[in-house]
Amino acid sequence: MLKLITFPRVSLASQLRGIKIISRYYSIARNSKVYPEEISLDGKTYKTDEWTNVPPYILELTQRRLHHDNNHPIGILRELIEKNFKGMGYTFYNDFTPGVTTFQNFDVLGFPQDHPGRSKSDTYYLNKDNLLRTHTSAHEHECFQTCETPGYVISADVYRKDEIDRTHYPAFHQMEGARIWTKSDKLEEIIAHDIEQIPKTNIIVEDPFRENCFNEGNPKQDYMTDNEVYLVSVHLKKTIEYLVNQVFEAARKSAKLAGSTEPYLNEPLKIRWVEAYFPWTAPSWEIEVWWKGEWLECCGCGIVRQQVLLNSGLGEEKLGWAFGIGLDRIAMLLFGIPDIRLFWTLDERFGKQFSSGNINTFAPYSKYPGIKRDISFWLPKDVTLHNNEVMDIVRTHAGDLTESVENIDNFVHPKTGKRSQTYRLNYQSMDRNLTNSEINVLHNNVEQDLKKLFDVEIR
Ligand code: PHE
Repeated sequence: MLKLITFPRVSLASQLRGIKIISRYYSIARNSKVYPEEISLDGKTYKTDEWTNVPPYILELTQRRLHHDNNHPIGILRELIEKNFKGMGYTFYNDFTPGVTTFQNFDVLGFPQDHPGRSKSDTYYLNKDNLLRTHTSAHEHECFQTCETPGYVISADVYRKDEIDRTHYPAFHQMEGARIWTKSDKLEEIIAHDIEQIPKTNIIVEDPFRENCFNEGNPKQDYMTDNEVYLVSVHLKKTIEYLVNQVFEAARKSAKLAGSTEPYLNEPLKIRWVEAYFPWTAPSWEIEVWWKGEWLECCGCGIVRQQVLLNSGLGEEKLGWAFGIGLDRIAMLLFGIPDIRLFWTLDERFGKQFSSGNINTFAPYSKYPGIKRDISFWLPKDVTLHNNEVMDIVRTHAGDLTESVENIDNFVHPKTGKRSQTYRLNYQSMDRNLTNSEINVLHNNVEQDLKKLFDVEIR
């Protein structure tokens, strides 16, 4: 099914000039070419086609650059991590724009053609060959090509089509780290020496894979010796443990300074390593951090596959690791931010609470009451609808007034076999009271689009 979204008849440039999130009403139409001929993003022009699926409200987010704002929790966290990596041989890249090619985001990293991450329901495409990066790994290739230090750290905003709720948002932030060595007679000595240089931590580490770091299910690459894999993995894991330690220790220190006496503040930090899979690393792992009674998944990593290094022109004697850490969830913990959407608010009651170099706990301001609306419909025979798709339509009309979309009921009529779905739409503003009449208008538009796009029959 072809789903296209019209941009309003204003030039995209003028839409993107401001950073205010404007909710514009534009309609969705099926089977007709309604995108503008071209989309321009950060000085590049993309010809739209049947792959284009990035709505204007997402394009607007690309201009916010929260990781550059040293007075915003995301920017403060980036700065804190960078500060701890200074002088350790890493180059920092913070200015990559989010429009990348499918080659950068997927192909060069060895994603199979049928990987779900490539689908239009997971990823925002500018057109068939260009998309909004779904991870900072999209820049590994060029950084391996150009970086002149042994390692690099990339920070950037990334985009994935996702449901929106307290902890999920289609735009978020990642930091990517990587480190390379060159094979030689001295290599093992050199890596062992580099491991010694990583500052020690008091973290309690649970790692069933420290000594036996690869196995059939999480294999090593043939071009590395067992001991090289071991040494590189220890360097990788100790680097991430150091990073996690610095971040959580900073959080602990500021919580204590603010007078908090919660017991977890005096317990040693605990982490565990679990095995993982990424197409461009082998073996691969994830680190989880024990924080306030929960395991927090925060970072994927592994030993970079040689093919990726060869693709970057690095030659056969290079080897190394890479990791990617999500910033938003960690920033939510550090700053006590209850809802990921707050990062994007322009309300100054949020913005004025944070300043460069400080981790302080967010003081909630009054939440405005929301408005709930249920919508029930019969689906046509061949149509399946996902929460994501309903969410896209709601976001298209209600923008940041969309609090959540929940699929609360599904049933099949026992006699006719017709399928019915009910969704609960919660509308809410971060900055003001909503009126019933404005929500009626938005909600009616949502209904119209559901009918137009999916031929549903409203009940
Ligand atoms: N890009 C991966 C993600 O978004 C994380 C990762 C980075 C994994 C580098 C391995 C190496 O989940």
